[in-house]
Amino acid sequence: MNAVVTTPDVAELRRMREHDLPEVLTIERSAYYFPWTASVFRDCMRVGYGCWVLVADGRVRGYLVMSVVAGEGHVLNICVDPECHGQGYGRTLLGAALDHAARLGAATVFLEVRPSNRRAVELYMQNGFCEVGMRPQYYPVQGGRREDALILARDLGCGAGGFGYTTSS
Ligand SMILES: CC(C)(COP(=O)(O)OP(=O)(O)OC[C@H]1O[C@@H](n2cnc3c(N)ncnc32)[C@H](O)[C@@H]1OP(=O)(O)O)[C@@H](O)C(=O)NCCC(=O)NCCS
Repeated sequence: MNAVVTTPDVAELRRMREHDLPEVLTIERSAYYFPWTASVFRDCMRVGYGCWVLVADGRVRGYLVMSVVAGEGHVLNICVDPECHGQGYGRTLLGAALDHAARLGAATVFLEVRPSNRRAVELYMQNGFCEVGMRPQYYPVQGGRREDALILARDLGCGAGGFGYTTSS
């Protein structure tokens, strides 16, 4: 994917950089009970995972982290500022993930999600993901309990795209 992609709502999708981390971490901590740390994001950037931020009005509004290895894409983190939910940013980020994976030759994109995360499950199902498995007791839950993870996959088949914009490698 190019370093910069312009999406239909005029938000900018570009590679995540070190200087984005303060804003990324603010969103991460407001979105998750068990947020990633700065060092996790740094490691993902260092090893060359696909790390992007979605910027609108000069502020980071969301981000995506994914790996593409051996023909498989894995969405590791996709997150939108809670103040900006419902504006299409999540769909834009997921479209970027599918596009990036397709351009790197992936046949399938996988991700894991908490069944209780209805907003995310709905987003994935609306965008062609299907349930392919479950990891019992995978996620920590407040209070020391655990929650299963749904494993979802989307076959890229004849290619991703159709998310309202194109990217080039
Ligand atoms: C999941 C998440 C990325 C969605 O981002 P978003 O920008 O709000 O989503 P969008 O505005 O692009 O909406 C896309 C779809 O998500 C679903 N969705 C969004 N808000 C929803 C809500 N309140 N209830 C149910 N589904 C919802 C719908 O399917 C929606 O499509 P529609 O508008 O055609 O109905 C966002 O809620 C988020 O960052 N959550 C916290 C982090 C997280 O849980 N990430 C996923 C980890 S697996």
